[in-house]
Amino acid sequence: MKILIINGPNLNLLGSREPGTYGSQTFEDYFLSLKEKLPQVELASYQSNIEGEIIDRLHAADKEFDGIILNAAAYTHTSVGIGDAVKAISKPVVEVHISNTSAREEFRHRSFIAPNAKGVILGFGLQSYELAVLSFTEV
Ligand code: DQA
Repeated sequence: MKILIINGPNLNLLGSREPGTYGSQTFEDYFLSLKEKLPQVELASYQSNIEGEIIDRLHAADKEFDGIILNAAAYTHTSVGIGDAVKAISKPVVEVHISNTSAREEFRHRSFIAPNAKGVILGFGLQSYELAVLSFTEV
């Protein structure tokens, strides 16, 4: 099972960015511990602050991975292009958010990803990523 985690804009700042909302752990540290915890899964990660790069990575990942975990961050709420890319590819995409976007500002309630995602996991802090990985594995 090969899974790619794609993180969108500003998620490179995890650890220092709004720690009250996103926690104080860097994604790099969390990702290392996740790989140690789930050695049976081949995990890779990619981050970009640029919409078109995220779309290109989704296209390429369709050929390279069994599943994709996507936290498109702010683009979740604005990007028809990323939503269309999720629809265009054949591999399942699980949408993830660290915070509970449904409990935040109105503009964060809308997702252009969700209609084409396999499922959505939000509000569990960085653990949202682990839950998304587990959703791809046999129980
Ligand atoms: C986020 C939620 C988004 O609304 C926000 O723009 C982010 C992070 C999350 O993981 O909680 O950058 O995707």
